[in-house]
Parts: sequence; structure tokens; C-alpha cells
Amino acid sequence: MKNILFIASEGVPFIKTGGLADVVGSLPKELDARYYDVRVILPKYSCMKPELRDRLEYITSFYMDFNWKNEYVGLLKAKADGITYYFIDNEHYFTSFKPYTEDPLWEIERFAYFSKAALSALPVLDFRPDLIHCHDWQTGLVPVYLKERFQENPFFQRIRTVMTIHNLKFQGRWNVKEVEEITGLSGYFFSPDKLEFHKDADLLKGGLVYADAITTVSPTYAQEIRTEFYGEGLDGLLNARAGDLRGIINGIDYDSFDPEKDALIAKPYNAVNFRKEKIKNKRALQEELGLARDDKTMMIGMVSRLTDQKGFDLIAYVMEELCRDAVQIVVLGTGEERYENMFRYFDWKYQDKVSANITYNEALSHRIYAACDAFLMPSLFEPCGLSQLMALRYGTIPIVRETGGLKDTVEPYNEYEGTGTGFSFTNYNAHEMLRTIRYAEQIYYDRRREWNRMIDRAMAADFSWKKSAVKYQEMYDWLIG
Ligand code: ADP
Ligand code: GLC
Repeated sequence: MKNILFIASEGVPFIKTGGLADVVGSLPKELDARYYDVRVILPKYSCMKPELRDRLEYITSFYMDFNWKNEYVGLLKAKADGITYYFIDNEHYFTSFKPYTEDPLWEIERFAYFSKAALSALPVLDFRPDLIHCHDWQTGLVPVYLKERFQENPFFQRIRTVMTIHNLKFQGRWNVKEVEEITGLSGYFFSPDKLEFHKDADLLKGGLVYADAITTVSPTYAQEIRTEFYGEGLDGLLNARAGDLRGIINGIDYDSFDPEKDALIAKPYNAVNFRKEKIKNKRALQEELGLARDDKTMMIGMVSRLTDQKGFDLIAYVMEELCRDAVQIVVLGTGEERYENMFRYFDWKYQDKVSANITYNEALSHRIYAACDAFLMPSLFEPCGLSQLMALRYGTIPIVRETGGLKDTVEPYNEYEGTGTGFSFTNYNAHEMLRTIRYAEQIYYDRRREWNRMIDRAMAADFSWKKSAVKYQEMYDWLIG
């Protein structure tokens, strides 16, 4: 049996802000339980839903040296879908309305604490990992601490580490002096070949330098981040470590996202009966959101963090033009105010055509994936993207920009060969996007049989974890030996 420990800042069902939580909550249970005992450590945020918080069982507590203080570390656990989750409890650090705050220095302190506390907790758990799998910058210090002070203790020797990049944009950067103070790491670690990045300290960089292997969440993104445009300043390092870097495409949880069994949607359907049944979800959503009741109009959905990563600049640029087309537009998301307000404005101006839902709502997200005809995701960059996979699963045709995981998962429609599962465009250009949306409209309105065949192919595409879980297992085996 190989013991694998995930350390991450979010995971379904306990806490979620984006795709990271979906991955952390679904990959562990897809690994072969006969050979891998996979467990997860998360922070115990005060903003977890009370019914989930109440499920956590206290294990033990101790005090740990951190940032010149003796900090409390509480340890709790819970099971979800057969997987054991551990939680690090400290009210000072994890009391907040949302999992993350807006204060970068405070975020660095919270997650430096979390990284050190997670390692410090291992000897008191009845679980010694052979490999620790770290996710994103919040856990970048884990491989660093592990190679530093924890090496004195034989318990920690030979524990392997993997660092997975879900989003290279966020690195946890701040000035060296304060990060040195907080982390307690000596000046030795803050040189350009280690944690220093142009005079600042960079936590993700620490993870990328010290981890035994690096992965990211799609093959295309693994290539892209080695270029200046997508590399966020770390392309040099990623090229130097190219031999240890691989891209493994994300899957989604085929049980939670299943149009046939989904209790959150108005009317279940499957790959056989969608021609008749899927429309009932559209009608229900039109009713729920106060849109014109009309079976025929093409409904385009978006479910997303409202940030520039997701291509909302392109949408803002042509939104007025798009609204004049024969379409309905449904948005669900929160994020940057300029995008929230842009959608609120168009919702007000085109009441029966546009519905802006500026909130976070799991159930509504499922109803949108089920109800819409098309799903728009014109990202500037996209490490993998799970929303387009959910859309495919629900037979909702993705319209995407060819970048990162979008390029790897959406096969462009080819009208001559009758192939493809969606529509895509290459350049980050608003009119190129609009042209592509209009091409999709044309197929939808004029060649409905072709459109429905595309749904057949979309729903037949397999983005469950099956293949990717095997790739993770191969990597674990290779590292653990
Ligand atoms: P990212 O992780 O960059 O935000 P992904 O496409 O990988 O993008 O994953 C986003 C996940 O978050 C999907 O499960 C999507 O359905 C969900 N999501 C995003 N915004 C909302 C929202 N406002 N309400 C409910 N779910 C959301
Ligand atoms: C990040 C990326 C997204 C990816 C998710 C899970 O949030 O932005 O593309 O799907 O992580 O790996």
C-alpha cells in the first residue's frame, strides 16, 4: 500500500471557490484503493457550511513555533465518500467570511502557517505518507519546509513531493524581509535559484524548486507555461525543470455531474432522450430567471469566476452586439466589480434576454449546465477548465478559445467531416469570438440535426477521471519506487 497525502487550500464537499476544490474532492477517490491510501489535509475555515463543520471530529492539538509565537494547531477529521480528510484548526488564521481574503501578506502568513502545521501534524496522525501531493501556491512551502527543518527527524526522510500547478497566475509573492520573518526560513532560501523572484519572495517558486516532480492540469498548459506569455515570470525555471514537468488533464466527478441522476436539475435526461427532455430544463430556467419563454431561442450560458483570466474583456467588448442576436444569455458568477456591473447593466437593458446572477450558487450552476444550448468560455488562459467538461457532459455545446485545457478537451466542429464537440477560435480577439458564436448560431438555427449530432458526440466524450487517475498512479509509482 502506498500512502499519498494531498495538502490543499480547498476541496469539495467541504469548501470550494473554484476548480481546485473539484479536483481535490474527486481525484483521491478515483485512485485505485487497493494500492493507494489517499488522504487530504485542508484548513478548517470558519466559513464552512455548519452542517459540514459539525461532522468534523476532534483528534488532538499541540503548539507549534510559528512567526515568533507559539501557535495552536488543532487537528480534526471527517470522512467523505470513503476518503479521510484532516483539518488544521486555528481560529486566528481561519476565521473569515470567505476562504481567501484580499490581503496578500495575510494570505501568505495564513498559508505558511497551514503548510508548516500540516507537516507538523503528520507524526501524530496514524498515517505516514510516502508522498505528499501539494496544490497551488498556498502549499508551495510544504516541499521547502520538508527539505529544511523536518529532515532532522527520520520520520520525514524520503517522503517524496509533487507540486501541481492549477493556476500559475497566483504565486504568493511579497518582500523577502517579511516572508523571512513569517516563515522562519533562513536567508539561504531567498536567492534567485530558490524562493527569490526579482527581489521578492515567491512561495510557489519554492514549491517548484523543491518538489520532486511538477504537474499541471493539461498537456497544452504544460507547454504554454514554458513560454514568456503564459509563464508568469517562471518560464525559465519551468524550462529548466521540463524533464520533471508533465500535464495531466483533469476529469470531473461523473456521479455528481450526471444529467441522468442530477437531483438539482428540473428534468433528468441522457444521451438517448436529450432531444425531447433537455428542453424541459430550458423552459424551467427561463421561468425561474424571468427570461422570455421560448423554446426556439438559443440559450448561451456562463458559469465562472468573473476575472480577466476567463476572457470577460472580449465579452464586454461585443456584448451589445451579441445581445442584438437571437440569443438568450445566462450568467452565474462573482468577481471583479467591472464585470459584475457590466452584466447587471445588460440584464437591466435586455430583461427578457439576459439574466445576470451575481452570486455563488451550486444548484443554479447545475441548472445552467443542463438548460443551455451552448456554453461560452473564451479564456485568456485556462490551465484546464472544468466548466466546459461539465457542459459537455450535459450536452451543452462549448464555445471556447483554444488555450490550455480548453484546447485539449473541446474538439472543434468540422462541418465537412461531421466531427467535433464544440466551437473554438484561436486569437484573443473579440470579433473572432463573435464570429465563432455566430457560426454556432447558424448551425443551431439552420442545421439542427447537425447540432444534435454534435450533442451526441459531446455526451459520448469521456472526461471522467479514469485515464488521468492512471497517469497520477504511474507518476506516484515512479517517484516512490
Ligand atoms: P476555475 O477553477 O479557474 O475557477 P474551472 O472551470 O476549473 O475554473 O472550475 C470552476 C468551478 O467552479 C466549476 O465547478 C464551476 O461550476 C464552479 N463555479 C464557478 N463560479 C460559480 C458560481 N458563481 N456558482 C457556482 N459554481 C461556480
Ligand atoms: C484552476 C484553473 C482551472 C483548472 C482548476 C482545477 O483554478 O483556473 O483551469 O481547471 O484550477 O485544476
